[in-house]
Amino acid sequence: MRVLVAIVAAVLAGGSATIAVAQHQHHHDTSAPVAPDSRQFVKFPAPLVEHTLANMHDHLQTLQEIQFHLAMGHTDVAAKIAETQLGMSSLGLHGAAEVSKYMPQGMQDAGTAMHRAASRFAITAQEAGVTGDLKPVFAGLAEITAQCVGCHAGYRLK
Ligand code: HEC
Repeated sequence: MRVLVAIVAAVLAGGSATIAVAQHQHHHDTSAPVAPDSRQFVKFPAPLVEHTLANMHDHLQTLQEIQFHLAMGHTDVAAKIAETQLGMSSLGLHGAAEVSKYMPQGMQDAGTAMHRAASRFAITAQEAGVTGDLKPVFAGLAEITAQCVGCHAGYRLK
């Protein structure tokens, strides 16, 4: 058992050192060649750009709140936040109908996929309140963030 703990600790230490090095290079090595920006520019009317970016800040805060409540064991609260702030119930909240008409199809699909993933997460988190199994909850959270990452990789507003 003790050997196993030592191995796990060594792997973790090695892993985080690699990550630290990678982050360091990412942030400070400005001489490194930068990959060309292949994201598609999407032209929104100026007020909608600001509105959308403000929504994005809300999205990030929502993820933080969800993680906080999961850490506290409040799966029901995490579920409710996910559904109302990011899920299918949030479409009115963010003025989705108005902005979606300026989005190319792929961007609309990414948005829809995010809302669906959040609604699925809400159900999974609620179930975890009964089963006590958090693994599917974290997988569901990763599915939500995968949609953030996917859309960001494909599109820009500025
Ligand atoms: C449908 C596409 C899409 C989805 C889904 C999406 N975003 Fe964004 N997000 C964007 C675009 C486009 C920008 C602007 C990027 C740019 O112009 O450089 C952006 C910018 C941001 C920014 C920076 C805001 C600023 O002031 O510059 C944050 C933070 C952010 N998103 C968080 C999130 C989070 C968290 C999620 C998932 C919960 C998410 N986004 C999901 C499209 C999306």
